[in-house]
Amino acid sequence: MRKPTKAVIPVAGLGTRFLPATKAMPKEMLPLVDKPVIQYVVEEAVRAGFEDILFVTGRDKYALENHFDQSSELESRLEAKGDLARRDLVREASNLGNIHYVRQGGAKGLGHAVHAAHSFTSDEPFAVLLGDDVTEETSDLLSVMAGVHARTGSNVVALVEVPREEIHKYGCINPSGTEVDGVIPIADFVEKPKTEEAPSNYAVIGRYILNPGIHSILANQAPGAGGEIQLTDALATAARTGAAGGVVGVVFRGERYDAGDKLEFLKATVLLASKRDDLGPDLLAWLKDFIATR
Ligand code: G1P
Repeated sequence: MRKPTKAVIPVAGLGTRFLPATKAMPKEMLPLVDKPVIQYVVEEAVRAGFEDILFVTGRDKYALENHFDQSSELESRLEAKGDLARRDLVREASNLGNIHYVRQGGAKGLGHAVHAAHSFTSDEPFAVLLGDDVTEETSDLLSVMAGVHARTGSNVVALVEVPREEIHKYGCINPSGTEVDGVIPIADFVEKPKTEEAPSNYAVIGRYILNPGIHSILANQAPGAGGEIQLTDALATAARTGAAGGVVGVVFRGERYDAGDKLEFLKATVLLASKRDDLGPDLLAWLKDFIATR
Protein backbone atom coordinates (compact mmCIF):
# COMPACT_ATOMS: atom_id res chain seq x y z
CA MET A 1 0.00 0.00 0.00
CA ARG A 2 1.49 3.32 -1.09
CA LYS A 3 2.20 5.69 1.83
CA PRO A 4 0.19 8.92 1.48
CA THR A 5 2.25 12.13 1.52
CA LYS A 6 -0.24 14.64 0.09
CA ALA A 7 -2.87 16.51 2.05
CA VAL A 8 -5.91 18.40 0.82
CA ILE A 9 -7.38 21.23 2.92
CA PRO A 10 -10.68 22.69 1.68
CA VAL A 11 -10.88 26.39 2.57
CA ALA A 12 -13.52 27.77 0.20
CA GLY A 13 -16.28 28.04 2.83
CA LEU A 14 -17.93 31.39 3.51
CA GLY A 15 -17.62 31.36 7.30
CA THR A 16 -21.14 32.67 7.92
CA ARG A 17 -21.13 31.40 11.52
CA PHE A 18 -18.56 34.07 12.43
CA LEU A 19 -20.10 37.10 10.73
CA PRO A 20 -19.41 39.99 10.91
CA ALA A 21 -15.78 39.05 11.74
CA THR A 22 -15.55 37.05 8.51
CA LYS A 23 -17.13 39.64 6.23
CA ALA A 24 -13.76 40.66 4.77
CA MET A 25 -11.46 38.06 6.33
CA PRO A 26 -11.36 34.29 5.72
CA LYS A 27 -12.61 32.36 8.74
CA GLU A 28 -9.44 30.26 8.59
CA MET A 29 -7.42 33.37 9.52
CA LEU A 30 -9.21 33.93 12.85
CA PRO A 31 -6.49 33.66 15.51
CA LEU A 32 -6.41 31.10 18.31
CA VAL A 33 -4.23 33.07 20.74
CA ASP A 34 -1.73 34.46 18.18
CA LYS A 35 -1.78 31.97 15.31
CA PRO A 36 -4.48 31.63 12.65
CA VAL A 37 -6.61 28.49 12.98
CA ILE A 38 -5.38 27.23 9.62
CA GLN A 39 -1.73 27.25 10.74
CA TYR A 40 -2.52 24.71 13.49
CA VAL A 41 -4.07 22.47 10.85
CA VAL A 42 -1.15 22.80 8.42
CA GLU A 43 1.30 22.14 11.27
CA GLU A 44 -0.62 18.98 12.14
CA ALA A 45 -0.36 17.74 8.54
CA VAL A 46 3.37 18.48 8.30
CA ARG A 47 4.01 16.86 11.71
CA ALA A 48 2.49 13.62 10.36
CA GLY A 49 4.69 13.72 7.24
CA PHE A 50 2.20 15.29 4.79
CA GLU A 51 4.53 17.85 3.22
CA ASP A 52 2.62 18.47 -0.02
CA ILE A 53 -0.47 20.42 0.82
CA LEU A 54 -3.21 21.60 -1.52
CA PHE A 55 -5.60 24.35 -0.43
CA VAL A 56 -8.90 24.17 -2.29
CA THR A 57 -9.78 27.87 -2.18
CA GLY A 58 -12.51 30.23 -3.26
CA ARG A 59 -13.02 33.98 -3.63
CA ASP A 60 -11.41 36.40 -1.17
CA LYS A 61 -8.94 33.94 0.31
CA TYR A 62 -5.80 35.95 -0.54
CA ALA A 63 -4.96 36.49 3.15
CA LEU A 64 -4.39 32.76 3.40
CA GLU A 65 -1.98 32.72 0.47
CA ASN A 66 -0.09 35.69 1.92
CA HIS A 67 0.14 34.06 5.32
CA PHE A 68 1.96 31.00 3.96
CA ASP A 69 4.14 33.02 1.58
CA GLN A 70 7.40 34.83 2.39
CA SER A 71 7.15 38.39 3.63
CA SER A 72 10.65 39.73 2.90
CA GLU A 73 9.80 43.31 3.84
CA LEU A 74 8.41 42.36 7.26
CA GLU A 75 11.30 39.99 7.88
CA SER A 76 13.94 42.65 7.05
CA ARG A 77 12.21 45.25 9.24
CA LEU A 78 12.15 42.89 12.22
CA GLU A 79 15.76 41.95 11.52
CA ALA A 80 16.78 45.63 11.42
CA LYS A 81 15.15 46.09 14.83
CA GLY A 82 17.02 43.07 16.16
CA ASP A 83 13.72 41.26 16.81
CA LEU A 84 14.88 37.87 15.58
CA ALA A 85 12.31 35.92 17.62
CA ARG A 86 9.41 37.56 15.79
CA ARG A 87 11.22 37.30 12.44
CA ASP A 88 11.45 33.55 13.02
CA LEU A 89 7.73 33.35 13.82
CA VAL A 90 6.95 35.13 10.55
CA ARG A 91 9.33 32.85 8.68
CA GLU A 92 7.89 29.68 10.24
CA ALA A 93 4.57 30.00 8.44
CA SER A 94 6.25 30.27 5.03
CA ASN A 95 8.50 27.27 5.67
CA LEU A 96 5.65 24.85 6.39
CA GLY A 97 5.54 22.18 3.69
CA ASN A 98 4.98 22.84 -0.02
CA ILE A 99 1.71 24.66 -0.40
CA HIS A 100 -0.31 24.53 -3.61
CA TYR A 101 -3.62 26.11 -4.54
CA VAL A 102 -6.59 25.22 -6.71
CA ARG A 103 -9.88 27.10 -6.94
CA GLN A 104 -13.02 25.12 -6.21
CA GLY A 105 -15.21 27.13 -8.58
CA GLY A 106 -18.32 27.57 -6.42
CA ALA A 107 -19.14 26.23 -2.96
CA LYS A 108 -20.91 23.03 -3.99
CA GLY A 109 -20.03 20.94 -0.96
CA LEU A 110 -17.15 19.09 0.67
CA GLY A 111 -17.29 16.23 -1.85
CA HIS A 112 -16.99 18.76 -4.67
CA ALA A 113 -14.01 20.44 -2.94
CA VAL A 114 -12.21 17.12 -2.47
CA HIS A 115 -12.85 16.12 -6.08
CA ALA A 116 -11.31 19.45 -7.21
CA ALA A 117 -8.01 17.98 -5.90
CA HIS A 118 -8.06 14.97 -8.25
CA SER A 119 -5.23 16.16 -10.54
CA PHE A 120 -3.06 16.94 -7.51
CA THR A 121 -3.64 13.60 -5.77
CA SER A 122 -3.62 11.64 -9.07
CA ASP A 123 -3.43 7.89 -8.35
CA GLU A 124 -2.11 8.24 -4.78
CA PRO A 125 -3.91 7.95 -1.45
CA PHE A 126 -4.15 11.31 0.34
CA ALA A 127 -5.23 12.98 3.56
CA VAL A 128 -8.05 15.50 3.91
CA LEU A 129 -8.04 17.93 6.85
CA LEU A 130 -10.93 20.28 7.55
CA GLY A 131 -9.94 23.69 8.83
CA ASP A 132 -12.69 23.91 11.46
CA ASP A 133 -11.40 20.93 13.42
CA VAL A 134 -8.40 21.65 15.61
CA THR A 135 -6.78 18.89 17.65
CA GLU A 136 -4.34 19.26 20.55
CA GLU A 137 -0.86 20.18 19.36
CA THR A 138 0.64 16.86 20.44
CA SER A 139 -1.99 14.73 18.69
CA ASP A 140 -0.72 11.87 16.52
CA LEU A 141 -4.17 11.11 15.09
CA LEU A 142 -3.11 11.46 11.44
CA SER A 143 -0.11 9.15 11.90
CA VAL A 144 -2.32 6.55 13.60
CA MET A 145 -4.78 6.84 10.69
CA ALA A 146 -1.92 6.45 8.16
CA GLY A 147 -0.85 3.28 10.03
CA VAL A 148 -4.39 1.86 9.84
CA HIS A 149 -4.54 2.76 6.15
CA ALA A 150 -1.25 0.91 5.51
CA ARG A 151 -2.55 -2.14 7.37
CA THR A 152 -6.09 -2.32 5.93
CA GLY A 153 -5.86 -0.58 2.55
CA SER A 154 -9.25 0.98 3.34
CA ASN A 155 -10.31 4.61 3.40
CA VAL A 156 -9.93 5.82 6.99
CA VAL A 157 -12.12 8.37 8.79
CA ALA A 158 -11.58 9.87 12.25
CA LEU A 159 -14.43 9.43 14.73
CA VAL A 160 -15.41 10.85 18.09
CA GLU A 161 -18.17 9.64 20.36
CA VAL A 162 -20.66 12.45 20.95
CA PRO A 163 -23.84 12.76 23.03
CA ARG A 164 -26.94 11.75 21.02
CA GLU A 165 -28.23 15.32 20.91
CA GLU A 166 -25.11 16.50 19.06
CA ILE A 167 -24.97 13.85 16.31
CA HIS A 168 -27.14 15.97 13.96
CA LYS A 169 -24.13 18.29 13.42
CA TYR A 170 -21.96 15.53 11.94
CA GLY A 171 -21.60 12.68 9.52
CA CYS A 172 -22.56 9.55 11.49
CA ILE A 173 -21.47 5.94 10.94
CA ASN A 174 -23.31 2.66 11.05
CA PRO A 175 -20.65 0.27 12.37
CA SER A 176 -20.47 -3.28 10.97
CA GLY A 177 -18.62 -4.61 14.02
CA THR A 178 -17.25 -3.57 17.38
CA GLU A 179 -14.32 -1.30 18.15
CA VAL A 180 -11.01 -3.17 18.46
CA ASP A 181 -7.93 -1.20 19.54
CA GLY A 182 -9.59 2.05 18.53
CA VAL A 183 -10.49 0.82 15.01
CA ILE A 184 -14.06 0.19 13.93
CA PRO A 185 -15.37 -1.34 10.65
CA ILE A 186 -18.03 0.74 8.88
CA ALA A 187 -21.09 -0.53 6.97
CA ASP A 188 -22.71 2.81 6.13
CA PHE A 189 -22.86 6.57 6.79
CA VAL A 190 -25.60 9.16 7.22
CA GLU A 191 -24.79 12.86 6.87
CA LYS A 192 -26.27 14.99 9.69
CA PRO A 193 -29.00 12.54 10.83
CA LYS A 194 -31.89 13.44 13.10
CA THR A 195 -31.20 12.25 16.64
CA GLU A 196 -33.80 9.48 16.44
CA GLU A 197 -32.49 8.25 13.09
CA ALA A 198 -28.76 8.16 13.96
CA PRO A 199 -27.36 4.62 13.64
CA SER A 200 -24.68 5.25 16.33
CA ASN A 201 -23.14 8.03 18.40
CA TYR A 202 -19.86 7.91 16.45
CA ALA A 203 -19.41 11.22 14.63
CA VAL A 204 -16.99 11.84 11.76
CA ILE A 205 -14.50 14.64 12.42
CA GLY A 206 -12.49 16.43 9.79
CA ARG A 207 -9.58 14.05 9.25
CA TYR A 208 -9.65 11.49 6.43
CA ILE A 209 -7.20 9.28 4.56
CA LEU A 210 -8.72 8.48 1.20
CA ASN A 211 -7.86 6.12 -1.62
CA PRO A 212 -7.64 7.57 -5.14
CA GLY A 213 -10.72 5.47 -6.08
CA ILE A 214 -12.88 7.88 -4.06
CA HIS A 215 -12.59 10.32 -6.99
CA SER A 216 -14.48 7.99 -9.36
CA ILE A 217 -17.30 7.81 -6.82
CA LEU A 218 -17.26 11.61 -6.29
CA ALA A 219 -17.29 12.26 -10.04
CA ASN A 220 -20.80 10.71 -10.22
CA GLN A 221 -22.04 11.78 -6.80
CA ALA A 222 -25.52 13.37 -6.81
CA PRO A 223 -26.12 16.28 -4.39
CA GLY A 224 -27.20 15.15 -0.91
CA ALA A 225 -27.90 16.94 2.40
CA GLY A 226 -28.27 20.71 1.89
CA GLY A 227 -28.24 20.24 -1.90
CA GLU A 228 -24.43 19.80 -1.73
CA ILE A 229 -22.12 17.09 -3.03
CA GLN A 230 -21.25 15.34 0.21
CA LEU A 231 -18.01 13.48 0.89
CA THR A 232 -20.00 11.41 3.40
CA ASP A 233 -22.27 10.10 0.62
CA ALA A 234 -19.25 8.94 -1.42
CA LEU A 235 -17.85 7.25 1.68
CA ALA A 236 -21.24 5.59 2.22
CA THR A 237 -21.02 4.10 -1.29
CA ALA A 238 -17.48 2.86 -0.54
CA ALA A 239 -18.61 1.38 2.80
CA ARG A 240 -21.71 -0.31 1.36
CA THR A 241 -20.10 -1.77 -1.76
CA GLY A 242 -16.45 -2.13 -0.77
CA ALA A 243 -15.55 0.16 -3.69
CA ALA A 244 -12.25 2.08 -3.35
CA GLY A 245 -11.26 -0.29 -0.54
CA GLY A 246 -14.21 0.19 1.86
CA VAL A 247 -14.00 2.34 4.98
CA VAL A 248 -12.82 1.93 8.57
CA GLY A 249 -12.87 4.42 11.44
CA VAL A 250 -10.21 5.40 13.96
CA VAL A 251 -11.69 6.61 17.25
CA PHE A 252 -10.05 9.76 18.59
CA ARG A 253 -10.21 10.41 22.32
CA GLY A 254 -7.88 13.41 22.62
CA GLU A 255 -8.75 17.11 22.86
CA ARG A 256 -10.48 18.53 19.82
CA TYR A 257 -12.35 21.73 19.05
CA ASP A 258 -14.73 22.83 16.35
CA ALA A 259 -13.19 26.22 15.68
CA GLY A 260 -16.20 27.03 13.47
CA ASP A 261 -18.42 27.16 16.57
CA LYS A 262 -18.23 30.26 18.78
CA LEU A 263 -18.31 28.56 22.18
CA GLU A 264 -15.82 25.88 21.10
CA PHE A 265 -13.61 28.60 19.64
CA LEU A 266 -13.54 30.39 23.00
CA LYS A 267 -12.76 27.13 24.80
CA ALA A 268 -9.91 26.38 22.39
CA THR A 269 -8.48 29.86 22.92
CA VAL A 270 -8.50 29.44 26.71
CA LEU A 271 -7.10 25.91 26.53
CA LEU A 272 -4.25 26.79 24.19
CA ALA A 273 -3.39 29.96 26.11
CA SER A 274 -3.48 28.11 29.45
CA LYS A 275 -0.78 25.74 28.18
CA ARG A 276 1.60 28.57 27.24
CA ASP A 277 4.42 29.56 29.58
CA ASP A 278 4.08 33.24 28.69
CA LEU A 279 0.30 33.45 29.20
CA GLY A 280 -0.92 30.39 31.12
CA PRO A 281 -0.13 31.30 34.75
CA ASP A 282 -1.55 34.84 34.53
CA LEU A 283 -4.61 33.73 32.55
CA LEU A 284 -5.46 30.92 34.99
CA ALA A 285 -5.03 33.21 38.01
CA TRP A 286 -7.32 35.78 36.38
CA LEU A 287 -9.90 33.10 35.42
CA LYS A 288 -10.09 31.78 39.00
CA ASP A 289 -10.63 35.28 40.25
CA PHE A 290 -13.17 36.03 37.54
CA ILE A 291 -15.24 32.91 38.29
CA ALA A 292 -15.07 33.47 42.05
CA THR A 293 -16.53 36.95 41.65
CA ARG A 294 -19.33 36.11 39.15
C1 G1P B 1 -18.33 18.18 7.47
C2 G1P B 1 -18.74 16.77 7.03
C3 G1P B 1 -19.34 16.00 8.22
C4 G1P B 1 -18.32 15.98 9.36
C5 G1P B 1 -17.89 17.41 9.72
C6 G1P B 1 -16.73 17.38 10.72
O1 G1P B 1 -19.49 18.90 7.81
O2 G1P B 1 -19.70 16.87 5.99
O3 G1P B 1 -19.63 14.68 7.83
O4 G1P B 1 -18.89 15.34 10.48
O5 G1P B 1 -17.43 18.13 8.57
O6 G1P B 1 -16.35 18.67 11.12
P1 G1P B 1 -19.50 20.51 8.00
O7 G1P B 1 -19.06 20.77 9.43
O8 G1P B 1 -18.56 21.07 7.00
O9 G1P B 1 -20.93 20.92 7.78
